[in-house]
Amino acid sequence: MCIMNRLKRYLAASVSVFAIMSQICAAEINLVPVPRKCMERSGTFMLTPDTKICLSPRSDGMMTAVSSWNSLMVSSFGKALAVIPEQNSAGSIRCILTDEIENPEGYRLEVTGSSVTIHARNPAGVFYAFQTLRQLLPPEAENIARDKPADSFSIPCLEIEDSPEFPYRGIMLDAARHFIPKEEVKTCIDIMAFHKLNVLHWHLTDDQGWRIEIKKYPKLTTVGGFRDKTIIGHARGPKPYKWNMSRYGGFYTQEDIKEVLDYAEERFVTVIPEIEMPGHSVAALSAYPEYSCSGGPFEVEGRWGIFNDVFCCKEKTFGFLQDILDEVTALFPSEYVHIGGDECPRVRWDNCTHCQARMKEEGLSSSNDLQIYFMNRIEEYLNSKGKRIIGWDEIMDGDISGRAVVMSWRGEKGGIKAAKNGYDAIMTPNEYMYFNRYQYDPSLEPLANGGFVPLEKVYDYHPVPEILNDEEARHIKGVQANLWTEYITSEDQLEYMLFPRTAALSEVAWSCPENRNYDNFLQRLPLILKHYSAMGINYCRWIFSSREDK
Ligand code: ACM
Ligand code: ZN
Repeated sequence: MCIMNRLKRYLAASVSVFAIMSQICAAEINLVPVPRKCMERSGTFMLTPDTKICLSPRSDGMMTAVSSWNSLMVSSFGKALAVIPEQNSAGSIRCILTDEIENPEGYRLEVTGSSVTIHARNPAGVFYAFQTLRQLLPPEAENIARDKPADSFSIPCLEIEDSPEFPYRGIMLDAARHFIPKEEVKTCIDIMAFHKLNVLHWHLTDDQGWRIEIKKYPKLTTVGGFRDKTIIGHARGPKPYKWNMSRYGGFYTQEDIKEVLDYAEERFVTVIPEIEMPGHSVAALSAYPEYSCSGGPFEVEGRWGIFNDVFCCKEKTFGFLQDILDEVTALFPSEYVHIGGDECPRVRWDNCTHCQARMKEEGLSSSNDLQIYFMNRIEEYLNSKGKRIIGWDEIMDGDISGRAVVMSWRGEKGGIKAAKNGYDAIMTPNEYMYFNRYQYDPSLEPLANGGFVPLEKVYDYHPVPEILNDEEARHIKGVQANLWTEYITSEDQLEYMLFPRTAALSEVAWSCPENRNYDNFLQRLPLILKHYSAMGINYCRWIFSSREDK
């Protein structure tokens, strides 16, 4: 974001934001995220099952850009819209690629009484224009319980020019603490796309479960994918702990993962896998204790927290992790692999002959340096396979290569340090972006990790810290919300935690700061909630109550 934008942000806070907003996008056009420019026109376009889509060019990418729209058309009209090459296109939806649109994900959308025209630089922009059209349809268009096909839908005439503020607009789903069935992952991806978010960070391994099939090491899932008991309530609560003694677990086969990746690709969502190391690795070590310092045995953890048994820095551990990463990188086309790096106690390393020998050989003076050595080795391996790493901000506690991306979670300081040192960063500070925290009165909400991140707090977050100059600010690639699932035991609860905070996140990530205004957002939100209901999505209904009127 440029200095001008930041200046405007402050002006907007004190001058009448509302006046600015109404020029930019009328409140009746309930789009979330709010577009950069929106001009209402009179009249409507009638979308019918006979409306055609003209693609120019008719490339694979353009076919992908319309495929999820056509799935929606199948469920609302009972048939897909015909896709034809550009020719006599009166009455149709024309999609045209042009270099006149600068932003790689930007688009221009014109709806008149007789046609819809989309211009974009890339198929991604065409896709986002269709997501805008999707929000302009009445919510019934999404109705999953439809008993008969619709005849037509009207779309208001308008002109929109739109492009994202940040290239990285993400959500992290933790499938390790509680497993998230693949159909639910797909639902989340679909709503992310509905709000123009484009990265799913998929947390696949942790102390409490290993969720990705690795063919060379089948015990990772057959043993590491299941735990015998799960703590009831908070681990920080009074001891002795209470346990749910049901065996719990699950994992994704590689075929499941491909299915999710295909679904995400059709929605222009990049999926970044996270394989945690060297800490948060008890599930892996319960399956293969030989890669620990002590040799085990271990059980897949049923408590939440930070655990001392972590991957040992002996040579064979690196072979094991590289084999795993070979399978992971063969599956995931993403440029990035997240390798964790957070919350790794060093107490086992301090007492391990292998780890101490490694430190001596490499001339490392502290266990912190040993962790940096560990991360750098894995990074070099992934770089050699053409991938870049993302790590939690602990990776900034030492020298990392300039290609690593820092995910700032312990507040903003990791991201600030990264940007000042020339590293790219993604902002996900726990105070604003941890969706596992409460959003209303804890006594009225399902059990959560603690903390308080209400909708307005999410909305008010600005990913570029003021302290950065323009050059440094360019390293802030975007923003992400994290949903850790220690206390999330059902799909309804998962959705409750995500929505509508995800709608607020989308404006933080996509909309330009001078267009953002919480009161205006709250006016646009009810229609979006109707879309959620039509889609069968659960969401937090407290948002229009203050904590005091409960
Ligand atoms: C984290 O929340 N431990 C990244
Ligand atoms: Zn060791």
